[in-house]
Amino acid sequence: MPAPNPNACRSLLSLESVPREQLNAWLDRAAEFAVAAQKPSPAAAGVSTGTAAGAATATSSLLRGHVVANLFYEDSTRTRNSFEVAARRLGADVLNFSAAGSSAKKGESLLDTARTLAAIGADVLVVRHAAAGAAAQVARAVSRPVVNAGDGRHAHPTQGLLDLLTMRQRWGDVAGRHVAIVGDIANSRVARTALAGLRTLGARVTLVGPATLLPRAFAALGAELSYELDPLLPHIDAIMMLRIQQERLAPATIPSLREYAGRYSLTMDRLNRCKPDVLVMHPGPMNRGVEIDEDAADDPRAVVLQQVANGVAVRMAILEWALS
Ligand code: NCD
Repeated sequence: MPAPNPNACRSLLSLESVPREQLNAWLDRAAEFAVAAQKPSPAAAGVSTGTAAGAATATSSLLRGHVVANLFYEDSTRTRNSFEVAARRLGADVLNFSAAGSSAKKGESLLDTARTLAAIGADVLVVRHAAAGAAAQVARAVSRPVVNAGDGRHAHPTQGLLDLLTMRQRWGDVAGRHVAIVGDIANSRVARTALAGLRTLGARVTLVGPATLLPRAFAALGAELSYELDPLLPHIDAIMMLRIQQERLAPATIPSLREYAGRYSLTMDRLNRCKPDVLVMHPGPMNRGVEIDEDAADDPRAVVLQQVANGVAVRMAILEWALS
């Protein structure tokens, strides 16, 4: 039996059962980093980079001397790069591990790889893996804080936080707001995670999709379920579109992408039936023409790139917390 990880309490594995106060503390800190990122950088303004301890600045040395290891066993564009930028903005060094081109190809296990990176000097491990529970396994086996960057269908907590931050920036408070999450709910760690965070903060969530992609068990997690998108459109404050997770889809789950898109794609026609200030969200990568039309993706109501930018701020807040 491995010794319990003394840093487990500084691991972020899921948003389920995270109390509201903790969510708000992370979001408050991330909001400070997001504001700091909007200001001209001290270097660009010709100002010294000295930072008071604890002050949120666009770049700082809060984590100087620390090493953040990214262990990515699944593809990633936004998450991996934004963890890297977040770590560097805090002055940390970054080790980037991807399964391709590593000893994982020679049969080395996830846990041995994680222990190896810890021995090399990693102070925090950021883990993405196709298996649900992978990050938790690492957190049990390696005495370092672990941040789950997506484990199979299970959880993607920093994505959930960046979604919440994006909504908070617009609304001030998500309590009482109504959010529709549309698409491949069954296979989406993003949907499950957003649901947990939104419910904790008092929002109403309707999960929308065809019956084969919308397990009834989600009702027990506080979601309302709908097989129809159209009747909801005028009532929601945000609509979060999801990609069909082809890599996790059981064969013959949907009859055809065309038929799916006909019922669930966010077209301009559907978007124009929403409230004028609806937030259009997508975790990326978008499959334009499937779950979202070209024009809807580029519409001013879409905050997809703001979500991506917020990903850096949220990951700064989480790395700082994990290493504090
Ligand atoms: C998501 C993921 O990997 O879970 N992407 C992301 O992290 N922004 C969603 C997806 O892959 O569809």
